Amino acid sequence: MKYTEGMLQPGAMKDKTIIITGGGTGLGRSIGKYILQLGGNIVIASRKEDVLNKTASELTRETGGQILAVGCDVRHYEEIENVIRQTEERFGAVHGVLNNAAGNFISPTERLSHRAFDAVVDIVLKGTYYFSLAAGKNWIAKKQPGVFLNIVTTYAWTGSGYVVPSACGKAGVLALTRSLAVEWARYNIRTNAIAPGPFPTQGAWSRLLPGELAEKFNPANRIPLKRVGHHQEIANLAAYLLSDYSAFVNGEVITIDGGEWLRNGGEFSHLETIPSEMWDRLEKMRSQQTAKG
Ligand code: HXC
Ligand code: NAP
Repeated sequence: MKYTEGMLQPGAMKDKTIIITGGGTGLGRSIGKYILQLGGNIVIASRKEDVLNKTASELTRETGGQILAVGCDVRHYEEIENVIRQTEERFGAVHGVLNNAAGNFISPTERLSHRAFDAVVDIVLKGTYYFSLAAGKNWIAKKQPGVFLNIVTTYAWTGSGYVVPSACGKAGVLALTRSLAVEWARYNIRTNAIAPGPFPTQGAWSRLLPGELAEKFNPANRIPLKRVGHHQEIANLAAYLLSDYSAFVNGEVITIDGGEWLRNGGEFSHLETIPSEMWDRLEKMRSQQTAKG
């Protein structure tokens, strides 16, 4: 058994149809692939239809699963309604929504225009609440159960300089997650979130570690486990949270970051750089002081 392997039973997602925003690339693609391998259907929705169609044919070839690609900008409510309508026409019903689409870039905040702020917050927060509203209303009207899974980050609660629009957007998504989990439980709609640490993707790395930053800053050094995440690890967690195995998990945000955010919040965590010889000297000094009384 390895963390790079699938975890759930074969057929765990059979007869389930999951919409994945931003499902043509990165983590959304990897999670979608695993859902297909578990017997589910997926609908991938984002702006670039050429990327979606390429991913759809690759994943069909690799898994033999059922996949629908629909162009959609999550900032436009009517395009989201169209995704839901097309999903129902093709597969009969929507069982889950993975709110994964995001925009982000690294920049000192004072260098940003207000349009740059809007660009990120509109994708991350507005896109997620638009999709949640459209899918939730549809489930409630049809008396169908449903599950939302929202991808946030650990700086949704710590905040972070240099990615302030993203931090604001993700904090809003976390509030949405916890709020809807309570309000819509009566309709049998569950809402959870995953907060990943660094998982290499072209989309994130190109925007968060551009140019020389990639050489100066190795994300693995900030992580107690001294490595970044493997896509199958988040796919396992996401599939569990979208499946009926997690039927009693609601309103939770699960961190998958190798201990990164706690390590960097801990007052003395940086003492890991002290070599054991120095600890030996400190211990000797302490015992000498104790002996002196
Ligand atoms: C400063 C920038 C910028 C940058 C764009 N803008 N990129 N400002 N630094 N790097 C400004 C533009 O100048 C413009 O303002 C405004 O933002 C809108 O730009 P557009 O290019 O028109 O926006 P749009 O086409 O809507 O594209 C959105 C985007 C883009 C966010 C800018 O990067 C995108 O499409 N991203 C999608 C994928 C993505 O970001 N993936 C990474 C997710 S990683 P002006 O004033 O000039 O009009 C992630 C990880 C989190 O979230 C945690 C990691 C541990
Ligand atoms: P990614 O590959 O860039 O994924 C982002 C996706 O969002 C793209 O497929 C993009 O597709 C889609 N998207 C952007 N704007 C959209 C819009 N307006 N409408 C519809 N779709 C839109 O990056 P990723 O790393 O896989 O990120 C996936 C999720 O994980 C994001 O929520 C991100 O914040 C989160 N996350 C990632 C990491 C990491 O280390 N990778 C860490 C923490 C959290 P189009 O361009 O085709 O629209």
